[in-house]
Amino acid sequence: MAAEVLEALKPRPGGRYADGTVGGAGHAAAILAASSPTGWLSGCDRDGAAVETAERRLAEKFAGRFEIRRGNFSEMAGWIPAASCDGVLLDLGVSSPQLDSPERGFSFQQDGPLDMRMDDRQRLTAAELVNDATAEELAKIFWEFGGERESRRFARAIVHDRNQKKFETTRQLAELIERISPRAGKRAHPATKVFQALRIAVNDEIGALKRGLEAAVEILKPDGRLAVITFHSLEDRVVKEFGRERTRDYTFSGAVDVPELRQPRAPELKWLARKAIAPGEMELKENPRSRSAQLRVLEKI
Ligand SMILES: C[S@@+](CC[C@H](N)C(=O)[O-])C[C@H]1O[C@@H](n2cnc3c(N)ncnc32)[C@H](O)[C@@H]1O
Repeated sequence: MAAEVLEALKPRPGGRYADGTVGGAGHAAAILAASSPTGWLSGCDRDGAAVETAERRLAEKFAGRFEIRRGNFSEMAGWIPAASCDGVLLDLGVSSPQLDSPERGFSFQQDGPLDMRMDDRQRLTAAELVNDATAEELAKIFWEFGGERESRRFARAIVHDRNQKKFETTRQLAELIERISPRAGKRAHPATKVFQALRIAVNDEIGALKRGLEAAVEILKPDGRLAVITFHSLEDRVVKEFGRERTRDYTFSGAVDVPELRQPRAPELKWLARKAIAPGEMELKENPRSRSAQLRVLEKI
């Protein structure tokens, strides 16, 4: 959604931008090109391979105008100065190189180790979760992070099978799910939600997103814009709730918003558009993986 991101962030010469999910540097390059010749970009990714690729790609055209670090965007405010950025981008989820590399273990379509770590310095892998978590813990992960209706049944089957043989590969897990929930007539592979849920849990994606949104607001200048691209409703809900909270011109104590008990306050952010922006038809044709993408844009007041 490069065109939509550029439209939202309106990069300009001299502007300072942060890309918390630099990945293959597609968006980063577009921001640097649009802010030529003097725009600056601070970028990060928790994936070491992505950081190397991004640095190499950006150095070809934009040497001296960017800094890329390996790290979690939830820690951006630790190295990007407060109130210094005109725009911040978070393009969430996994990248195509991650999904397409069987050895990273993200895909049920190719066999590989059950890994799923975006940052391979981290200890917790998907195999560890699948082999060590209790049936209740697994069911909770499948339900909360995947919306999987058969969460309990799948979790019980995993616990049963791992007593015979530990889970080591993506194929082993995908085959178990397929065996107990055959694919016949279904559009998506029956393991889709389980794999998504495990990935979100292994990488603490929801926790990182909540902290990352806070960090993004901290490093934005007044009038600076935050663009967030989400890929599933769980992420989108976190962004929507964060936006709703920060755009309100009042606070309330307790869990329920009682109009008589509201305390006025100045809102911190405003929505650029009430509704999420979806990819255009061209992009959907060229990149079918973008079909579930949604862009939301907030401006700091
Ligand atoms: C959809 S890709 C980004 C693609 C990128 N915008 C581009 O144009 O090539 C998502 C990237 O975000 C990274 N990522 C996801 N969560 C992260 C986090 N909490 N901190 C840093 N990077 C993260 C992933 O490793 C992945 O490389």
